[in-house]
Amino acid sequence: MNRERTIKVALAGCGTVGSGVLDIVVNRAESLACRTGVRFQVVGGLVADLSKKRSLPLDPHLLTDEPAALLSRDYDLLVEVMGGTTTARAVVLDALRAGKPVVTANKALLALHGAEVFRTAHAHSACVAFEASCAGGLPIVGAVLRGLQANRINQLVGIFNSTCNFVLTAMLDRGMTFADAVAEAQRSGYAEADPTLDVSGGDTAHKLTVLASLAFARNIEFSRIAMQGIDRLQLDDLRIAREMGYACKLLGIGRRVTNGPHAQNERLHLAVRPTLVPNAHPLAALTGASSGLWVQGDAVGETFYSGAGAGSLPTASAVVADMIEVATGATQATFNSLRIFNDQTAPAEYVDPGAPEGPFYVRFTFDSPRQDALSDLARALSDIPMRHERSHAASDRRHAVIITAPITCAELDTAVRAIASRLPLAGEPVVLPVLEV
Ligand code: NAP
Ligand code: HSE
Repeated sequence: MNRERTIKVALAGCGTVGSGVLDIVVNRAESLACRTGVRFQVVGGLVADLSKKRSLPLDPHLLTDEPAALLSRDYDLLVEVMGGTTTARAVVLDALRAGKPVVTANKALLALHGAEVFRTAHAHSACVAFEASCAGGLPIVGAVLRGLQANRINQLVGIFNSTCNFVLTAMLDRGMTFADAVAEAQRSGYAEADPTLDVSGGDTAHKLTVLASLAFARNIEFSRIAMQGIDRLQLDDLRIAREMGYACKLLGIGRRVTNGPHAQNERLHLAVRPTLVPNAHPLAALTGASSGLWVQGDAVGETFYSGAGAGSLPTASAVVADMIEVATGATQATFNSLRIFNDQTAPAEYVDPGAPEGPFYVRFTFDSPRQDALSDLARALSDIPMRHERSHAASDRRHAVIITAPITCAELDTAVRAIASRLPLAGEPVVLPVLEV
């Protein structure tokens, strides 16, 4: 049997995720060393505020608020779990330039500066591991990097943000307000330091950028992802979706769209939107702080991953798994050989976000309860050239809903305006995409 090895760790960030990492590598050190042959010794921790009270299993003298002081320690591996794209970027790049491997949970950093980070790692014979950056404890980066590498991945659809899933579930099942649900997600350690990143869809778009870049082997620009969050969603739509057999979820979707037989005509459809997911789809069943990812590959077919997408220990589970893979040399080998990191891949080409066809949910709200909302809607629809698959009158008799047949956004917009002009409505119609299964 190989002798046990000690790996010295510089830990940038000792908050929700950093404290979970310390819990595993300190409090569970024996069983970890027994299973892996690796023992982690944290030689320094970076924090912003040294005066903050903490109960960490780490000698307080090892804490510093100076990035340069952390990086001057004798360390083998930098673990960056501080967040942000300014100091974190400098710390990560400095470590890589010194030839040190980096484990990071920072999807914002990789989505905005991934090519620079990977290029620096390659230039200095270092490596970057980032399992925790895309949905906390779910091993989906590993699935795409290794388990599914034999496939041409055609499509991925995910609930990438646990805070949003938690908030939508709490509003619908526990009657919480949006603000109270966000506050509870913050207290539970699910939300970003600035939770507007979660609810605006930004965090989902960061993760989609990182994962889709690997899955489609293209350098994807974060700014090209069409994005809408849950901050303007209304409870009425969550309730009506449920009445109709759907769950409303914030989805990140990446799909190859090929025009004609030649792969060179391929473009990517990338979007983050609140979407109605039919109950038959496994993503619909995910509630609370769960995340999930559905991936379709040409050899394997459909695969599905779900579990805790955020929180201290679930995220630390992914960080420490990366630390073990760095220690065993597996990360460096993968990083050296695969050509799918976005310092090496061609720029992605994008589909116009409004162009692909899809079915949509459209809700019309009447100015007063109707005896027969569906007849009123049917009259308004009678000479409008838009096929619909289904209509529904909500139980409160104030809302009528249609699920359209696949249609482009531009066609939908024209049709919805025409219908709305023929009905006595209170407010603008609400339009949400429906996931096709
Ligand atoms: P957090 O609780 O706010 O912890 C951040 C830590 O970094 C704190 O210890 C903070 O110091 C320190 N820090 C922040 N900015 C710093 C700076 N400029 N200089 C020095 N120290 C600084 O955040 P978190 O939830 O652990 O998230 C950390 C990273 O993991 C983020 O990139 C996040 O997106 C990612 N992530 C989080 C989760 C999750 O469930 N929370 C899941 C997956 C990925 P103080 O303690 O003094 O404030
Ligand atoms: N704020 C993120 C979420 C943390 O809620 O999913 C996990 O990346």
